[in-house]
Order: sequence, then structure tokens, then C-alpha cells
Amino acid sequence: MKGLKKFYRKTLQERWDVLQDRKILTNEQIKCLKRTTDATELGNSMIENFIANYSIPEGVSFHYLIDGRDYIVPMVTEEPSVIAASSHGAGLIKKAGGFKTKIKQRLMLGQIILEDFQDFQELREKIDHEQASLLRIANEAHYSLIKRGGGARWIRCRKLADDLMSIDLAVDVQEAMGANMLNTMLEAVADYVRKEFSQTVLMSILSNYATECLAVAECSMPLSNLKKENFTGEEIGHKIVQASRVAQLDPYRAATHNKGIMNGIDAVVLATGNDWRAIESGAHAFAARDGLYRGLSQWTIVGGQLKGRIELPLPVGSVGGSIGILPLVKVNQKILNVKSAEELERIIACVGLGQNLAALYALVSEGIQKGHMRLQTKSLAIAAGAKADEIQQVLSMMSKTKGKNLAAAKAAIKEIRRNKQHERN
Ligand code: MEV
Repeated sequence: MKGLKKFYRKTLQERWDVLQDRKILTNEQIKCLKRTTDATELGNSMIENFIANYSIPEGVSFHYLIDGRDYIVPMVTEEPSVIAASSHGAGLIKKAGGFKTKIKQRLMLGQIILEDFQDFQELREKIDHEQASLLRIANEAHYSLIKRGGGARWIRCRKLADDLMSIDLAVDVQEAMGANMLNTMLEAVADYVRKEFSQTVLMSILSNYATECLAVAECSMPLSNLKKENFTGEEIGHKIVQASRVAQLDPYRAATHNKGIMNGIDAVVLATGNDWRAIESGAHAFAARDGLYRGLSQWTIVGGQLKGRIELPLPVGSVGGSIGILPLVKVNQKILNVKSAEELERIIACVGLGQNLAALYALVSEGIQKGHMRLQTKSLAIAAGAKADEIQQVLSMMSKTKGKNLAAAKAAIKEIRRNKQHERN
């Protein structure tokens, strides 16, 4: 489209002008973009063709008692019910002693893919034999990591097809998520393999299927704690176990079950400046690790207790990438009061489990629509233009109307303002 060529070379003002001149956006909409750009330089330097800072609401979730420590968890999400549900799930777990977590190791994996090799067995033996040299080459490519106690740890070979294999490199990336470090190391090793072993390298890149960076969160509570209105705690507990079984058996349900878990996980991953697409792809690959896509969490009843467990890859960092750049990330790290990336992993796994408990608890009892609709109506009131001091009134008026839509919200606002005007006169 004319005027959009070389968009990246234009100043921010010129980009807005083009969008307005081409009638892609109205004057009002451009004003809306402009209002977001307090950190213009930051956005402009981070991405291509920057025009605005897109903001998503941030809130905090409470009741996270994890390995004996209390946490306040910042969450960035546009979905109205997520934070309330998270606090509800965490509250149920806290009442019974809180979450327990386990982390075995924090290694990131990368791959060098070779094609057209001659003999897999022979090449594997050669690589095994030269493992120490290959690890040294990897480490020399990112020497500062060694000084911080990290570094390349092991290499393995996997045959993928008759003509394709993967050399996997495992690296201790310390406090970072480590994508750049890993990619630099992989390219150095790939270069050596290409030259010294006369192999054809198809590509080298980190893997988001972070199987060597797994976090586990667990909880346990007496069934009696689950009691709610018309349901006994035993009934709700048994239904949660059934719901968990369905997510192990049926990918249609498993995808929704896991979406609920990721509602919480993504919100914390975003708040802490981490790469939520990496976490999403790793989590879903892990959910399908035995060939069938399954729920990431499981609930069982043992000795009158409902027990929950979640396990998933959580390759997050506490430094590096956008973590050091986005100003709010520092604030959120302060709210969380975490000392390390490993501690952050533990918290995120717990948020996934807490979020899942809240969703299943609602689904098997009153359903989620009651709570959702309350929050949905609030979003409608805001979208219709209600000011902060008008929202409660709009909600109470809309609770009496049948059609809970934008038109009804607008009508309610109109009436509130008309009444106010009337009182003033
Ligand atoms: C909605 O965002 C998430 C749920 O669908 C999760 C689930 O069904 O377990 C409520």
C-alpha cells in the first residue's frame, strides 16, 4: 500500500501520519496510540515498525504459600476471571499447608541438525569420543558463562530418520533463559562438526522442549475443605478427580484443561519479562510426551486428601533479554521478592496448579459462567464508557436486565448520567 513502504525508516510521528493519511486509523485512534507511548524510545529500539505500547492490565494474586514462604504474585492478563480464580485456588491450598515444589536441574537444550550422514553409529561414537573437546568449544564461545558457574554440560546424539540426526547440547545457563548464549554455543560447535567431521549441518538452534528444566508443584488438602453450598467436600473432590481423568484420556478436554493452567502461567511469565511463547510451546510438547496430548496436572484422592501435581518445563530467567529492559519487570521481581530463576520456576508451577484447581472446582460445582458473567458485565460497562464511579451502578442496573450486552451497558450509563443531571438541576 502506498506510503507504507520503508515504514521502518520513518519517525514515529511520520508512521502515525501515514496511518491517518491512508485512512487506516482515525484521528481519535491515532490519539489513542499516542497516549501509550511514554516509553517511546524503548519500544522503538525493541521492535520493528513500532507505533504504540500495547498495554495489558496487571494485577496481583494472593495466598501463595510455597515451600513455607508467602508470595504476592504479579499477573499480566486481559482475561477478567484469571486473577480472582488464581487467588481462590491458592487460598484453598494455603489453608491445607501450601504448595511443595521440586526442581531437579536447570539445563537448556539446543540442537545441531545434521543431514546426509553416512553411518549414525559411527558418528555417534566419534562425537561421544570427542565430547570433551566439543564442550570446550561450546564454552569458549561464551566464556563469561563459565565465570558465573554455568557452561555446556553434555552432548547426546539422536537419529531422527535415515538421513537426519540431532546433536543435542545441554547447557547450564545460570540465571538467564539463555537463548542467545545457547545459539552462540551451538553455532560454534556446528562449525567444528561441519569442518572437522565433514558433516552437513542443516541448522542449529535451541529447543523450546526444555525437558531438562522441569518444575514440579504439589499440594494436598482434606476433602472437607472443598465443601461448597449444595455440595459436600467429598463430592467436589471426586468430581475434580474425574475431571482430571478426562484430561488424561481426551485431547479435546486436555487442551482446555491446559489452557486454564496457562492462563495463570502465561500471566506470571509475562509479568516477569519472560518469553511466553517459549513456555507455551514447551508445555504443550511436554503434554504430548507419550504420544497422546494430556492434561499437565493430575488430581487424585489418597487417604481422604485431594492431592494435586503438575510437572512441566519452565525455562524462565531472572536476567537477560527483555527482563533487563522492561521497567515494570524490575518492579514485578520486587513484588515477587524472588532471588533466582529457579525460585521463579517454582512459583510459576504453583500458579499453574492453583489456577487449575480453581477452574476444576468451579466447573464441577456451579460452573464458571456465574463468576465469568459478573466480570464480563464489568468489562462491558468499561467498554461502554462507564467512569470508575459509575461501574457499580451500571452493574447493579444490568443485573436486573436480561440482555447483558454493550447496548444495555450504554443505556444504563445514559440513564445514570440523565439522573445525575436531573439531581443537579
Ligand atoms: C477459561 O479461560 C479456562 C477454563 O476453560 C479452564 C478449564 O476448563 O479447565 C475454565
